[in-house]
Amino acid sequence: MTTERFDPVERLRGMVTPPADKSISHRAAIFAAMSPEPVRISNYLDAADTNSTLQAVRSVGAIVEVRPDEVLVRGTGLRGAQEPEGPIDVGNAGTLMRLLPGWLAGQEEGSWEFQGDESISRRPVNRIIEPLVMMGADIDAREGRLPPFTVRGARLSGLEYELPMASAQVKSCLLIAGLVAYGEVSVIEPTSSRDHTERMLAGAGVAIQRSAVEGGSGVRISVRNVDELELEEVHVPGDLSSAAFLIAAGILIPGSRIVVESVGVNWSRTGFLRILERMGAIVIGDLEPESQSMPTSEPITDLDVCHGPLIATTVEPEEVALAIDELPLVALLGCFAEGETVVRGAQELRVKESDRIATVVDGLRGLGAEIEATHDGFVVTGTAGLRGGTINSHGDHRLAMLGAVAGLASREGVEVVGMEAAAVSYPGFVSDIAALS
Ligand code: S3P
Repeated sequence: MTTERFDPVERLRGMVTPPADKSISHRAAIFAAMSPEPVRISNYLDAADTNSTLQAVRSVGAIVEVRPDEVLVRGTGLRGAQEPEGPIDVGNAGTLMRLLPGWLAGQEEGSWEFQGDESISRRPVNRIIEPLVMMGADIDAREGRLPPFTVRGARLSGLEYELPMASAQVKSCLLIAGLVAYGEVSVIEPTSSRDHTERMLAGAGVAIQRSAVEGGSGVRISVRNVDELELEEVHVPGDLSSAAFLIAAGILIPGSRIVVESVGVNWSRTGFLRILERMGAIVIGDLEPESQSMPTSEPITDLDVCHGPLIATTVEPEEVALAIDELPLVALLGCFAEGETVVRGAQELRVKESDRIATVVDGLRGLGAEIEATHDGFVVTGTAGLRGGTINSHGDHRLAMLGAVAGLASREGVEVVGMEAAAVSYPGFVSDIAALS
């Protein structure tokens, strides 16, 4: 395990390009593996999680060539996934673990065992198993709900399923299963979550229907099976969730002005920017507006970030899924804001790479924050800064980077124990920060 120290810096200045989007990279590799024709993916994320996905799609029969400027995937077609020699190791990648089984569950034959690292072994898979079994899938999991688990190919039928929680991973799993099922698959989400799957499938010629559920904030997304995906090329934008650490550092450190280049700003990912705007932060870019129609591409912009004072805000349950991976940063920003910052309806944070309510609250409190956990979020009282100290990443990439940003903005600096976890999504994080300092 590596311990790294982040001392307060005077200011951040310059331009930085964040790594490629993790969510979109996973989907690009999986959909390319399902395609009959070769697919070129430019700006594919080179990080631990997305390398697990390349390995996984290789093991089910895709040929993957990693070239200097692109990843070329020659897939098996929708119904040609092969049985691997051993278990599929998803490493730390929850998205891989939840999306790939949707495809494999509907193969005519074959059996696939999924396993992963220690953190993944604590993350629930019953959320995909229950609806897939309703469709006719044959899946066995440890205690019925945890990895390792085995998927055996079966004939799947259609389903209308109301998700108990807004989850892009579960929604995507079921939509993917719908591509090989007999009958329509409709997923009803209580509130919107990221829609990269819908956009990429629509771009690959799949008829995806989306409509608002009457009398609430719910959304219904429907799909029917297709003969093949027509994908050809995918360009992966920069990852807003990785950029968020740079943006937060730019806002918190006095005198900073940075430009974060080529960031994906799909509306269903920019909840954090809307929260920042309410807090009074200055982040300027060409953001995608909310739309009722189904876009087929991913918008990209440069974000211009300035230091400035913050006021507290409340994040409501319907905003949570649109900013889920950035909520730890809302806690950190709350330490510097005037007033009480509250996050509600975010119990999903408890089943991320770590229990992010517990690890964020304990971690920031150890650095001097006035922060309390609630069952579904946290309450932070702003104290105009943070002392510093030591924080443990608990093997969670986002917690490691949170500790680093806290250190740069703190009075005494922060030591992050387990900084290597950042490589799951952002291997160049420490050098990017150093280049801005
Ligand atoms: C992801 C969806 C989110 C997010 C995760 C990536 C995705 O998870 O936290 O980092 O790529 O679909 P849930 O959909 O389970 O909330």
